[in-house]
Amino acid sequence: MKEKWWHSLVGYQIYPKSFQDSNSDGIGDLPGIIRRLEDLEQLGINMIWICPVYQSPMMDHGYDISDYTKIDPMFGTKEDLKQLISEAKKRGITVIMDLVINHTSSLHPWFQEALKNPEGKYGKYYIIRKGDGEIPPNNWRSLFGGSAWERIGDSDNYYLHLFTVGQPDLNWENEELRKELYRMINDWLELGIGGFRIDAIAHIKKDLSYRNLPPDGPDGLHAGMQWFRNVEGIETYLRELKENTFDRYDCFTLAEVDDIPEERLNAYIGENGYYSSVFDFCHCFHSQLDGKWKGHWKEMLADIRDRVFERQKKMEGKGFFCNYQENHDIIRVPDRFLPKEKQNFHSLSMLPVLYFFLAGIPMIYQGQEIGMTGYPREKIGDYEDLATYNNYQEYLLEGMTPEEALEKINATSRENARTPMQWSSEAYAGFSDVKPWFDVNPDYVTCNVEEQRRPGSLRDFFRKVTALRRDSAYEKTWVYGSFLPQEQETGQIWGFQRSYKGQELIVLVNFTDQPVRTVQAYLIRKVLLDNYERTEKPEQGRNTIMLRPWQALVFESDGSDLI
Ligand code: NOJ
Ligand code: CA
Repeated sequence: MKEKWWHSLVGYQIYPKSFQDSNSDGIGDLPGIIRRLEDLEQLGINMIWICPVYQSPMMDHGYDISDYTKIDPMFGTKEDLKQLISEAKKRGITVIMDLVINHTSSLHPWFQEALKNPEGKYGKYYIIRKGDGEIPPNNWRSLFGGSAWERIGDSDNYYLHLFTVGQPDLNWENEELRKELYRMINDWLELGIGGFRIDAIAHIKKDLSYRNLPPDGPDGLHAGMQWFRNVEGIETYLRELKENTFDRYDCFTLAEVDDIPEERLNAYIGENGYYSSVFDFCHCFHSQLDGKWKGHWKEMLADIRDRVFERQKKMEGKGFFCNYQENHDIIRVPDRFLPKEKQNFHSLSMLPVLYFFLAGIPMIYQGQEIGMTGYPREKIGDYEDLATYNNYQEYLLEGMTPEEALEKINATSRENARTPMQWSSEAYAGFSDVKPWFDVNPDYVTCNVEEQRRPGSLRDFFRKVTALRRDSAYEKTWVYGSFLPQEQETGQIWGFQRSYKGQELIVLVNFTDQPVRTVQAYLIRKVLLDNYERTEKPEQGRNTIMLRPWQALVFESDGSDLI
C-alpha cells in the first residue's frame, strides 16, 4: 500500500456546543477549542474533527445548515476558524470539518425559494413529489421517526426529509446543485483544513420508484433503508464528488457509511476509494442496557470482538476503517459495554486498548478520555434532541407507559453523549461560567480533566495509549502491519497480533472481571503497555499468561516462538 500522510492520524472528535465556552453564553465555541489545544496536544492526538459549526437554526444541533459559507455566530467567526487551523498546525494537529451535503436546513434560502416555487430552479434542488391530499407519496419512515415526507402547505406537494422535518434532502440527481456543492467544499479546503468527516453520505441516492411498503410498526410506516442507503448508482456521484474536490487537495475524508456491501469495500476505502476511511457501525447497536444483552455483557463483548475482527480481516492491507467507541450519536461506552458496578479504573482503561492498536484510524470522542458517562433525566423535557422526542413518541405508540418510555430514553438517547465537557470541579465543570445550554452531569465534581491530570488516572492512561500508537519504533506496525486474531476461542480475551517487517506486537485484553489464562504461549520480549503496575517481572521464555481482571497488556514478542 502506498503510504499517505493521513495513515498515521489519531483523531479526537469535538462536539463544539459542549466543549468549551469562551464568552459566557453557555455554548461552546471556536475560541474555546483554541484555548484547549494544549490539553489536546498533551493527550497525544494529531487530528481534530469538529462537528458542524456552519450557520444553522440548530434544529439538529448544526446538522441542519442554513448557510454553507458562514460560521454560525454562536461558534465565532471565520477568523476564529482560521486561527484554530493555524494554532492547531503549530501543535502538529490537523483540523477536519463536518460536511453535511445530504440535506440542508429548511431555513436555507434554497429551500425557502423551493417552497415558494416547487417547479422552479430551487424546487429541483430538493426532492419534492406529489402526494394525494393528506396522504404522502409513500410510507417511508424518517430515520428519526415519523413520516419521511412533509406536506408543503395544503398543496399536494411533499418534500422528503430522511432526518428531522427541518432537514430537507437535497436532490443529487441535479447537476447544477452538485456543482454548487463542489464549489462550496473547495472554498473550505482552500482555508487549509485537512479534510472532512462526511455526514450521512450513504443516503444521497434514493431509489426513485418510491414504493409503498408493508408497514413494519404501529405507525403504519416502513423503515425502507434499502431504498435510500448505498443504493446502486451512488458510485457515480461519489466518484464525481471526489474528483472535483477531495482529490484536488489530497485531503483526508472520513465518511459515515454503515453496512458497505463487501464487494464494494474496495471501491469505497481501497487505495483509490471514494473516501480515505469510513466509520462503520458494527458495534454501535450493542448495549448491555438493551434487552438482548442484559446480564450478558461478556458475551456481548465477545460478539463485538468477532464482528470487529471480521472487518479487520476484510480490509487487511487494502484500506482503513476508522476505529472508535464513542461519538455524539451513541451513549457513552462505559454505559454501553459495562454494568455500572463493574466500572473502575481497570475496566475503563482496558476499553481503548480494544481498538487503538487495530489497523485503521483511531478516534477518541471528547470526554471519553476521562470516562464520562450519561445520567438519567427525571423528565423528557430535560432533553433537547428532536430525534429523542420522536423516539419517545414511538415508544408511547408501542404501548409503553411514560415512565417506561423515559427509562428507555435514559438508556438510549444520544444526548447522553452531549453533556458539557467536564474540565474541572468548579461550577458548571469549568465548561462555562453561566448555566450551559444543556445540563452538566452532576458527577463532574469527581470526574473531570483537572482531577485526572495526575499520573495513574484514566486520562493519563489514554496518553500512554496514544503515545504507544504514535511511537515511531512501532507506528509502522500499527499502521501497516498484518492482523492475526489470537485467543478468539476463549470468549474472554480480545487478543490479536500485528506484524510488520519482522516486528511482532501482541495485544491481549481480558474483558471480564475474572482472571483468565491465555490458551497460547507467548514470549514477552518487552512490555509496552499494561493497565496494572506489574509487580512481577515479565515472564521469561515462552509461556501462557495469566491475565488479571480487565488486564490490558501490549508487548513486543518474538514471532518465531508463537504457535
Ligand atoms: C449523522 C450525524 O452524526 C447526526 O448527529 C445527525 O443527526 C444526522 N447525521 C443527520 O445529519
Ligand atoms: Ca460561547
